[in-house]
Amino acid sequence: MLPSHGANPHKLFQQLGIPQPEHMIDLSENVNVAGIPQSIRNSWTEYVQMIEKYPDPQGEPFLSAIANKHHISKECVLVGNGAAELFTFLAMFLAKQRVILVHPTFSEYEATLSVHEAQLIHVEVEDVCTWSLPMEQIQQEMKQAKAIYLCTPNNPTGVLPPQEQLQTIMEWGEQFNCYVILDEAFMDWLEPEPTMIPCSEQFLHTIIVRSMTKMYGLAGIRLGYLIAQPQLIQKLASYAAHWHVNGLAATIGTQCLQEEEYRKQTIDTTIEQRENWRQYLRNQGCVVANSQTNYLCFQLPNPQHTKQFYRYFLEKGIVFRHTENYRVLQGEWLRMGLKTAEEMKIVEQEMTRWFQQTAIL
Ligand SMILES: Cc1ncc(COP(=O)(O)O)c(C=O)c1O
Repeated sequence: MLPSHGANPHKLFQQLGIPQPEHMIDLSENVNVAGIPQSIRNSWTEYVQMIEKYPDPQGEPFLSAIANKHHISKECVLVGNGAAELFTFLAMFLAKQRVILVHPTFSEYEATLSVHEAQLIHVEVEDVCTWSLPMEQIQQEMKQAKAIYLCTPNNPTGVLPPQEQLQTIMEWGEQFNCYVILDEAFMDWLEPEPTMIPCSEQFLHTIIVRSMTKMYGLAGIRLGYLIAQPQLIQKLASYAAHWHVNGLAATIGTQCLQEEEYRKQTIDTTIEQRENWRQYLRNQGCVVANSQTNYLCFQLPNPQHTKQFYRYFLEKGIVFRHTENYRVLQGEWLRMGLKTAEEMKIVEQEMTRWFQQTAIL
């Protein structure tokens, strides 16, 4: 059994007994390859002093910065130690309840909900490439469920479902008293952002989770936030340890929100790279999902070659994200996060060699 997460490739090499090559290109991780904005590095000595002080219990100054950014009241925001922490609170809130998951999707929903004995209802999309939602089935299931999770844009496919469909689901949420949890961890990659946050005041059952990790390269600092109606925010906040958001994260996150130029630049570079790669993979005969993010999910022309392909690249130090623990994808797809132009050139050369070799077999 392969590790169920991307990143931390050393574990993967250990588990498979493959010697870890000196240089690695880790495509299994999908955090912004540009890393943190330069302004964070510039202010580092100033930030480091914060380590000696207790942070604000509500995550200020980040809390106010988020409320300003989205034009919402602070009472509707809960800051978390990464979106991952907020998913743990949601799972505590939904303990033993019926919860719908739409697959393929981010594996942490199931992992956290299972710990709290939620009764999971697994719904599968009709088509992986378009991550097309089975609306009738969703409507039927929502009548008896406490919540539905939707990853928008979806991880691992990168697809964002049409806004009209999401709005319809949010309306059903109100009608059937079913919480609609939208994970917008990758929403920063779209410009303008088709976020559902502006509708959240009107839809009392809608909960939106965002992560600062992906766009701003903050995987190690842990910062995310959740938007919902104030009563629910209070309930979820009651699960948190005091000072659960560290002061360094809250300050760095606030600075990152100023970095619109950095975000737009990232998006421009990503779109160009992603579309070139989509074309390249299609030219090789691969099936590629309609990603709008910084990663691509694809299937080889012959999906039976996936394991062999995965291992071949591991031995070369190129790590893809396998999909063995994803329902629907069942190991027959791969996900690749986009890295620097130089690294992607190496990946392309190696891939071209592989495709040429398998064409001869
Ligand atoms: C879709 C999705 N949501 C949430 C998270 C968790 O983000 P964070 O780093 O803020 O905990 C991830 C991380 O991989 C993710 O892919």
